This record gives sequence, C-alpha cells and structure tokens, in this order.
Amino acid sequence: MTEKKYTLHRISGQIETIYLAEYPDRMLLLDGGCRCDTRRIRNFVTKKLGKRMEDITLSFVSHVHPDHAGAAPILRKRYGIPIAAPRAIDTWYVRLSGWLQHLIDYLFAWAVVIRMGRPWLRMWYPRFVRPDFPLEDGSYLPFFEDWKVLLTPGHTAHHAVLYNEDECTLYAGDLVLKANDRWLLPVPITMPAAQKESLRRLSTMNIKTMLLAHGDLQDELPVGLFDSLMPGTIRRPPLTLRAVMPLMMLPPDIRKNTTGGGS
Ligand SMILES: [Fe+2]
Repeated sequence: MTEKKYTLHRISGQIETIYLAEYPDRMLLLDGGCRCDTRRIRNFVTKKLGKRMEDITLSFVSHVHPDHAGAAPILRKRYGIPIAAPRAIDTWYVRLSGWLQHLIDYLFAWAVVIRMGRPWLRMWYPRFVRPDFPLEDGSYLPFFEDWKVLLTPGHTAHHAVLYNEDECTLYAGDLVLKANDRWLLPVPITMPAAQKESLRRLSTMNIKTMLLAHGDLQDELPVGLFDSLMPGTIRRPPLTLRAVMPLMMLPPDIRKNTTGGGS
C-alpha cells in the first residue's frame, strides 16, 4: 500500500465543503467555495495550519457556479494563487444570455444560503474565471500530477472532476451530491445525455473514496452508485425546485456548448 502523499483538510464553507490537500511542500485547494469563503480559508490556513496563504500553490475550479468559482479569483488577486479550471469555463456566461444566467445562478445560491440558514455574507463574484492553467480532459494538474482531470459535462458543459489514481479518490465537484443520506444529482442538469455519459464513464473506474462538495467525504460507496443516478432513474426534484428550474436553464445559446472541451 502506498503512503498517502498529503493530508486532506475539510473546511465548512458557506454552501459547500472545501477541501485542502496539504503536501509537505505545497497545498492544493479543491474549489474555494463562495467569495465569502476566502475568510474561512484564510483563518484555517493561517491559524490552524500556521501557514501563509501564499503557500497554497493552486486553486482548482470544477465549474463556474458561485459556490465553486466565487473565491478563486479573489484568492488570486489577494495572494497570487493561480487557478486551474476547465478550458471552456469562460464560455458558460458569455453574451447577454450568459450574463442573465450568471445572475440567476447567483440568486439561486442566495436561495440555498437562506434555506440552509447560513450567514448573510458577500457572494457576488466575477463572471469569468480566466484560468491561469486551462485544463483538458485526461491532463494532470500542474504541480500536482497525482490528480488527473476528467471532463464530466452534464451539470454544465464544462464541469470537471479530479481523480487521484494512487488513492482511487475522486473529487466530484457537482457531479453528484448527498443530502439527508440520499445520493442525488445536482440541480440543474442542463445536458442530461452528457450527464449520463459522464456517469457511465465513472462507473467503469475504480473509485473508493469520493470527496463531495455537497455531502462531505464518502468512503463507503454503494455498489452501482453511478448507474443508480442516471438521469431519469432517480426521483424528480420537489415541486418548489421544479418551479424555478426552467429559469435556471433559460438562456438557449449556452446549452449549445456541449463539448465540454471547448476551443
Ligand atoms: Fe454547480
């Protein structure tokens, strides 16, 4: 059995769980959460770990939603932490329809905050991530070559997860989530066919541990998990959510970005 190369820390963010992989000489942030999570991350790194924010070598951003991409641009601006994100990430919020989608996603994040009873903190964030390291499917993270990038479109066209081959560990982003002891798909699934294909791809892989942005670390995965989550096989979201889903999928042109890889 290989020795673990890093210590994994979990930080409870405004909406999601933020993971920080601490290696002996560098640190990797797996989605930085919302804009307001920058303070939580700073407190953890400086007070708990006794390190400097500049010791974070890289921010990985799985997709452009406010609870995943909100903090990374601020962390880069304040501490010079570079961002690695899927190459197509900045095609999601382009044009007027993208501007509108950004606003809708931001308001939806606020609805989640209110529902979760979380504090009212600043969450507005830039529409464009402008990654320092645009990622391709099958590539490896810069500085952290034990993490492989897999594009998993479905939730958005550009969504990406990370797979650590040595430890059979997957950082899932918003590919799947777990709430109230139930495995779920995220809302919305803008491209059901692509989501199905993404789940099918992962179902063939050896995954022992999943790091969920929504649902914490899971190391006892049900057999056939990904098959059971194929769109169309799970229960529909509650009526209140279904009522706002058309709004969240309003702009037609961004859904044409179906390749995930982009150009
Ligand atoms: Fe998301």
